[in-house]
Amino acid sequence: MEITRREMLKLSLLGSAALLLPLERAARTAITRPLRQLPRPFQAEFALPQVLQPVRRTATTDFYRVTARQAEADILPGLRTPIWGYNGLFPGPTIKARRGRKVVVNHANRLPVSTSVHTHGAYVDGDSDGHPNDLIQPGKSKTYYFGNDQTARTQWYHDHAMHTTASSVYKGLAGLYLIEDEFEDDLPLPKDEYDVPLVIQDRLFNSDGSFDYSEEGKASSNGVYGNVVLVNGKPWPRMAVSARKYRFRILNGSNARAYDLALSTGEPFAVIATEGGMMSEPVLVRSLPISPAERYEVIVDFSKYPVGTKVVLKNRRRREKKGAENVMRFDVVRKARDDSLLPAVLRPPEEQIDPTHLPVELSEVERTREFVFKRQNGYWSINGKTWDGNRIDEHCREGQAEVWELKNNGGGWIHPVHIHLLDFKIIERDGRPPAAYEAGWKETVFLDENQSAKVLLKWPRVPEGPKPGRYVRRYPFHCHVVEHEDHDMMLQFQVAAA
Ligand code: C2O
Ligand code: CU
Ligand code: CU
Repeated sequence: MEITRREMLKLSLLGSAALLLPLERAARTAITRPLRQLPRPFQAEFALPQVLQPVRRTATTDFYRVTARQAEADILPGLRTPIWGYNGLFPGPTIKARRGRKVVVNHANRLPVSTSVHTHGAYVDGDSDGHPNDLIQPGKSKTYYFGNDQTARTQWYHDHAMHTTASSVYKGLAGLYLIEDEFEDDLPLPKDEYDVPLVIQDRLFNSDGSFDYSEEGKASSNGVYGNVVLVNGKPWPRMAVSARKYRFRILNGSNARAYDLALSTGEPFAVIATEGGMMSEPVLVRSLPISPAERYEVIVDFSKYPVGTKVVLKNRRRREKKGAENVMRFDVVRKARDDSLLPAVLRPPEEQIDPTHLPVELSEVERTREFVFKRQNGYWSINGKTWDGNRIDEHCREGQAEVWELKNNGGGWIHPVHIHLLDFKIIERDGRPPAAYEAGWKETVFLDENQSAKVLLKWPRVPEGPKPGRYVRRYPFHCHVVEHEDHDMMLQFQVAAA
């Protein structure tokens, strides 16, 4: 399998060299040196990802078209960075969906490698899930269908092609996909310009401005750590803020790095949502661990700071490879009135119910499964097994309640574990209750070094795709250090009809 992958990768790289941009071709052939002069933190202007406009709207559905292609991005001062971007953008454009309104996205692939587009968090039939083997060949396209039956939440879409996910995501194939709904509209939280996404990604650069990502070797299969932290594609940006409350939708879009986010002032901030949307009530924290693919939404109140204050969003995580102690800076530049509130009750449990949030009690559990995440014979494995797209590893059933025990026995490695199709509740972490900030609905659970977690879940009905009666019932679950996923820490399950 190792040889097959390596050969495949080499073939695709050699065969595609002519298609690469001049800069990227130079980066591949010349001996590139690492970027010596890192950009100075807090010099770059904060930017927002573009919001994608539909190409067509009907009474029920919004239609979008996205092309994955090569482009160049302005990331470092005075240099251009070749990227692979959805519509040529880094990060990709944000799709905004409404609960109950359908979305249809046609994804074209104009890259030299195959792609597969997974909307992470989406409740979709297996055909629209971006399965690792459901590839869009170069020059081809595929249409993905979204019912958006879920409550409001912050999702993201990214490449999921077998064995090339990590490098394709690193080059830029990631963007946000938000679902909004009326319940959330009616909450008095900060809105519009005060509702701000933060896509956090770390990168290594070459001296010519290109990304430094070696597709071969141990470094990449262990997980690549950058020495520059990007937020929405800008290095350690500074954002001018008003002295009032903001809502930040934070995605850790890094390949391998976990962060422990904290404000330089030491002040607490409120966590209001997890991957599955709004929690029942806000949870105050002084620091917030976030591993790859996790999302947390927070309210930060700048009203207590005088104009002129600079508040740094720090990464306080210890034991880090290649320190990345800063994320970005908020410069309080003006006073502002603030009609928003942080209510004591956000979204009560009965308002959270949707197909991915089925109420479930421990007493209903019919099945417990155990999964051990560890390195074995040079591969990242789950229960000693590695990815095989033709094998179904776990057989599940619609409506069945289960407990999954997830164990990171690796020592020295993190494994954020992500299950497709549904959300779960963390019920135990190392034998204790989970932290209050992770009490909401989750689909990615951070297993730090030597940690374990138990999660409670209930299989939903597999949603119908565009062709009624035709179901694709298989979905992957995996470690979301994308290099671990690519080096085979991924299995799949099938959800049978009840
Ligand atoms: Cu974000 Cu299976 O992925
Ligand atoms: Cu996913
Ligand atoms: Cu892992």
